Amino acid sequence: DDLERLADDIRDAETVVAFTGAGISQPSGVPTFRGDDGVWDKFDEGQFTYGRFQRNPEGFWADRIELQQVMFDGEYEPNAAHEALAAMGRDDNLEAILTQNTDGLHGEAATSVREERTDEPSILELHGNSQRVRCIDCGKRMEDDPIFERATNGELPPTCDCGGVYKPDVVLFGEQLPGAVIQRARSLAGESDVFLAIGSSLVVEPAASLPRLAASSGATVGIVNLESTPVDSSADVVVREDVTDVLPKIRDLVEK
Ligand code: OAD
Repeated sequence: DDLERLADDIRDAETVVAFTGAGISQPSGVPTFRGDDGVWDKFDEGQFTYGRFQRNPEGFWADRIELQQVMFDGEYEPNAAHEALAAMGRDDNLEAILTQNTDGLHGEAATSVREERTDEPSILELHGNSQRVRCIDCGKRMEDDPIFERATNGELPPTCDCGGVYKPDVVLFGEQLPGAVIQRARSLAGESDVFLAIGSSLVVEPAASLPRLAASSGATVGIVNLESTPVDSSADVVVREDVTDVLPKIRDLVEK
């Protein structure tokens, strides 16, 4: 069947690339952006643009605290899908995990298997990491918790010792992805033999173009997502099932 075909291609591949979106973290309790209960139903994307951060950092931070509370409410941990990818590694030809998520869960899943392996796939966080903030003047990075606490207690916007304003270390709307990051993502997609798009609506850039780039370079493209995506017609295999069911199955088939 479809999953067996994917697993065969993964086994025969030199380079497998996994590309993930909010759907892979949904079973961990992190809400998705679009669809039922999506974050963009509760908030307006316009509240989180780079332009607004520059014009009105105080208002931006007040809203960002609310967004962070909705998205990363309490404890959340990697699920079976993150773990299956973390466990695959380069022995199973998985070269890299490219993620649009800023929740850090791929990194946490990798940490939990790190002692057992030396062939971890590289993890590229295309949209940054919400667990950090970065000073826009001196570039210093900090853990998010103490800075969010200061902001919640009324320091709006929170600032660095150098006087610069802290910004969540994520890519905001209207902000370019770092050139080196997007270049590496494109070259990985272009050189992949199997490209798996997992839990993403594939509607924003570069999500929409990376799987198409992989397909046009001859990769087998697999899409794992509950809903249809605009890239389904370019894919070789489309699986509309929960990521926590599909990813462990793929891993087991590859290792059989
Ligand atoms: P979306 O919220 O747009 O899409 C998530 C997709 O995951 C949806 O198509 C769901 O059907 C699917 N899904 C949800 N739960 C699932 C499950 N358990 N198993 C399988 N599929 C599931 O999220 P992204 O595509 O990641 O950008 O969104 C891309 C970017 O848009 C985000 O990184 C963010 C957002 O605006 C920035 O913040 C810069």
